[in-house]
Amino acid sequence: MAYEEIYRIVELVRAHNKWRRKECINLIASENVTSPLVDMLYMNDGMHRYAEGLPWKRYYQGTRYIDEIEEKTNLALGELFRAKFVDIRPVSGTSANGAAFFSLCERDDTALVAPVYAGSHVSHTKYGILGALGIKEEELPFNPEQMRVDIDASIKRIKEKKPKIIILGGSVILFRQPVKELREVANEVGSYIIYDAAHVLGLIAGKQFQDPLAEGADLVTSSTHKTFPGPQGGVALSNNQEVFKKFRRYIFPVFVSNHHLHRLAATWATTIEMKYFGEEYAKNVIKNAKALASELHSLGFKVLAEKYGFTESHQVVIDVRNLGGGSYVATQLEMCNIITNKNMIPGDTPDKVREPSGLRLGVQEMTRYGCGVSEMKYIAELMEKALIKKVDKESIKNEIIEFRKNFQHVKYTFDIELNNLTEEKLPILI
Ligand SMILES: Cc1ncc(COP(=O)(O)O)c(C=O)c1O
Repeated sequence: MAYEEIYRIVELVRAHNKWRRKECINLIASENVTSPLVDMLYMNDGMHRYAEGLPWKRYYQGTRYIDEIEEKTNLALGELFRAKFVDIRPVSGTSANGAAFFSLCERDDTALVAPVYAGSHVSHTKYGILGALGIKEEELPFNPEQMRVDIDASIKRIKEKKPKIIILGGSVILFRQPVKELREVANEVGSYIIYDAAHVLGLIAGKQFQDPLAEGADLVTSSTHKTFPGPQGGVALSNNQEVFKKFRRYIFPVFVSNHHLHRLAATWATTIEMKYFGEEYAKNVIKNAKALASELHSLGFKVLAEKYGFTESHQVVIDVRNLGGGSYVATQLEMCNIITNKNMIPGDTPDKVREPSGLRLGVQEMTRYGCGVSEMKYIAELMEKALIKKVDKESIKNEIIEFRKNFQHVKYTFDIELNNLTEEKLPILI
């Protein structure tokens, strides 16, 4: 009997892997796929171990190899992002944000944050970790037509509210953030600028998006698994020693104890992949996002920020109210094996969180599988078939399974076999 349950576990994992890795067009902007090399490194004994504290100064024995791995992961990330100070211990973007807000603010201090409908992550808001820490959320003015923070209005608001922190970056991020434009006023009133790079870290690594540290951000927080194609985790980067010292005082022991050691080597390898392949990857991601956006637009979809070229990141955002709303549309697409997520867009009030008006797409994963501009046009046509022409979903799904047969292998990685472990033999594929 016990075996039945085990077989079911294996069956479910296999089914998930086959479906999401081999048969779908994945367009979720916050996801990606790791390379076979990174997959292999991820499966290691670190998943059983503890190593609280900093490399070579641990609270546990048995960490001599982990110490070197962690130290060199931080160094490689520092080199890639031109950051003097790096901490890979946050286990997620949210825990990096928690430690950042906690270390730079007292209770009742003020944070300036763009509204959720403008793309701020829930952790930046009163509904998430900011609220849980008792930090007051005030709105950073946003221009919905441009899908950007309104710089002049923000300068005025910063002077008026004198926030302790200004949070830039978010879950919807089509264009660069005004870091250098707000630096002077932030200095004037004594605010720290935190840049949440969770979505665009891979584009920054590939030098195809703004460099927030060079532009004056005090602290960059991030996930390591969205456009940066590493295992799930978090990181903090800084060139401000005072700020980084505060962060490091609190990430452990307040926000993590065990920092999930098995991901470190895999994150280090991803960093090396990005050093060598990141630029080409990031250029192709942005080219693909622009191609998908303009094709969708020409097929009649209401793509946001038309006047501004739709996007300069990996994301494309569509207003799908005329097609039944975000929730309905995302479900219809899933039936065709096109995986997306519903999203709030300007005009949506907080009560619309479950039934928002928009759909957010990201092209980084399909770019990793080798898709280019012509495939983006094809994907737009598939979406037209599914949502506008209302073609039978089963036939679209079968077409997509055939299409994916040509895009099975992750690019932008080293072509090596380690101990004859080929992609097919990797544990992840059981
Ligand atoms: C801008 C932003 N910050 C933080 C997070 C949270 O990251 P994690 O899922 O790694 O906690 C997300 C998640 O999607 C995000 O979009």
